[in-house]
Amino acid sequence: MTKNKRKFDVLVVGELNVDIIFNGINSLPAIGKEILSKEMTLTMGSSSAIFAANISMLGVKTAFAGRVGNDIFGSMVLDTLKSKKIDTRFIYVSNSDKTGATVVLNYDNDRAMVTFPGSMENLTEKDITDEMLHSARHMHLSSAFLQKGLKPDIVKLFERAKNAGMTTSLDVQWDPEEKWDLPFDRLLPLVDVFLPNKQELTAITGKTDIKDVFRVLDTKTNTIVVKMSTEGSMGFKEGQLIHVPAFLNESVEDAIGAGDSFNAGFISKYIQNKPLGECLEFGNLMGAVNTTAAGGTGAFQTPEQVKEIAKKRFGKEF
Ligand SMILES: Nc1ncnc2c1ncn2[C@@H]1O[C@H](COP(=O)(O)OP(=O)(O)O)[C@@H](O)[C@H]1O
Ligand SMILES: [Mg+2]
Repeated sequence: MTKNKRKFDVLVVGELNVDIIFNGINSLPAIGKEILSKEMTLTMGSSSAIFAANISMLGVKTAFAGRVGNDIFGSMVLDTLKSKKIDTRFIYVSNSDKTGATVVLNYDNDRAMVTFPGSMENLTEKDITDEMLHSARHMHLSSAFLQKGLKPDIVKLFERAKNAGMTTSLDVQWDPEEKWDLPFDRLLPLVDVFLPNKQELTAITGKTDIKDVFRVLDTKTNTIVVKMSTEGSMGFKEGQLIHVPAFLNESVEDAIGAGDSFNAGFISKYIQNKPLGECLEFGNLMGAVNTTAAGGTGAFQTPEQVKEIAKKRFGKEF
């Protein structure tokens, strides 16, 4: 099968869960007591799903490989992905797992969260078949530290993806255990685009100065992208460092999923072989669009909506 004949542009390998969000609680919960919430929202959660949903809205043919439980949350995740035109044939529905959930308690401007990981910990490298890897041109993996079943064999997965002729990208996200124990020396040479944010990159490399980081990782990876919130993003490739400032949003709704939306924008250009500066700029634009509506997919409901926000709020037509 030649690369161009593949059915999908992007295969997302990742975690799936739901978020149950409580807004408008008037105090913190206390053991032995009950408090009331004014609002509640049930949505599809997970960084990988937000990436998949938003890159699909940008017209990229997307399939998802993951695992859910045979339950109501699992059905909701599958239905939501399908409504975003994402192909769900590679999502395994397990009778023995429960779909995970995060309970989010929003309080003032901060939040407390409780996560039950459920099925996301049980996806393994063996579940990702050669058929899946040959069905798409590019593989994106996110949230490596949350996927405990996949993590020990992550190098093998990327080796197989490269052998299958795919280009690859990785956003590890935060390590809740803060051990950062991935074999980056072996992994990063197999990753075409590495997409951490600044805090994650500092934690991984132990370097606080970005220039030192690039010296450490230089020879080990092809393109390194650093997401820097309101400062935009940096890209490093073949000895060249590019900084592209953010499209500043003066009235941010929330920044949930901004990094995933950045990734969606960046990778949508990368797979069209666009130059690094253009990939970074479009990543920044999609990150900024993300901050104009609540949650990770609020601003990405239709392709028209994304275009309109980009034009009206940030003066950019695409
Ligand atoms: N307040 C903001 N205004 C405009 N763009 C933003 C804002 N916050 C984030 N972005 C864009 O989204 C990208 C990703 O956000 P960031 O917070 O750095 O990632 P992560 O969510 O992974 O921590 C940034 O590089 C930037 O381009
Ligand atoms: Mg992130």
